[in-house]
Amino acid sequence: MIVTSPAPKVRQTTPTKQRAAPQREVLPEIITVTSGKGGVGKTNFAVNLGILLRHRRQRVLLMDADLHLGKLDVVIGATPRYTVSELMDGSRSLEQIIMHHPSGIDILPATSGDLNLLEADSQMLKVLADSFASIQARYDYLIVDTGAGISPTVLTMALGADKVILIITPEPASISDVYAMIKVIRSKSADIPLVLIPNRLRSLEDGLELHKKLNLITQKFLKTNLYYGGSIIEDTAVGQAIIRQRPFVVEYPRSQAAHNLQLVCHRLLKLPPKEIEYRSNIFDRLRVSRKEVESL
Ligand SMILES: Nc1ncnc2c1ncn2[C@@H]1O[C@H](COP(=O)(O)OP(=O)(O)OP(=O)(O)O)[C@@H](O)[C@H]1O
Ligand SMILES: [Mg+2]
Repeated sequence: MIVTSPAPKVRQTTPTKQRAAPQREVLPEIITVTSGKGGVGKTNFAVNLGILLRHRRQRVLLMDADLHLGKLDVVIGATPRYTVSELMDGSRSLEQIIMHHPSGIDILPATSGDLNLLEADSQMLKVLADSFASIQARYDYLIVDTGAGISPTVLTMALGADKVILIITPEPASISDVYAMIKVIRSKSADIPLVLIPNRLRSLEDGLELHKKLNLITQKFLKTNLYYGGSIIEDTAVGQAIIRQRPFVVEYPRSQAAHNLQLVCHRLLKLPPKEIEYRSNIFDRLRVSRKEVESL
């Protein structure tokens, strides 16, 4: 199904008496979903959050930034028609590789095989920034699904975001990996809001407890606060939806996990955005934040 994107929103600046106010495009808020550890539920979260935002009439572009085969095709049957390869060799435009998923969200497959759009050279990033500039205002949210680990690509996407979502599970390895991720992000940025989402829990109380414990540690050792974004229960509906290659919020909207994610979505919309004067283009930001990552 092809979904045509509505016209870009414009932000009205304060009018002056002398002349008409200039109008600015409102650019998408960038939410990067990461974790440190693999297999904790990032892709499922990113896809289903995107769809819930779409249900709230938000226009969403989901960027698959997982080099080691973002499993979007497995999770929601979104197999790209064209990929980064065609974009890199100039045979397709950025607009042509964006997929319109039946759920109403758009998907930008940013990686394929060993090709990674986000590791393009600075000339290519400039070309990407220019072509992205013409379409970015069609979206309210750009959700970036990252791969496991703290690779330069993952860090770049985190440092370029307005909000970083940190998915954890109760496993000790997940907690220590997320702590390592927070430490590296905070070594480069003091102000990106970090939102913790405990996933695959036995009870919601366990999630609150997990946030409380980790927040105490980050306050003490990193002098930083973690927002609590809400928790998601371990729910068989998630795995069953994957077998059907359908998003669980669509396939099982009454499941516990879908209900939990509704609350998470509600909380996220209420969180204050990162204080920025004017949102810039994601690929321009990548150029900037990549330099920061290189200097780590
Ligand atoms: N709340 C949940 N309840 C039950 N199963 C879940 C839940 N969240 C995720 N899973 C399961 O965890 C597995 C990993 O999910 P997903 O692929 O989203 O993780 P990921 O963090 O993106 O992994 P990777 O790091 O490999 O990209 C999937 O099989 C999924 O069904
Ligand atoms: Mg994934």
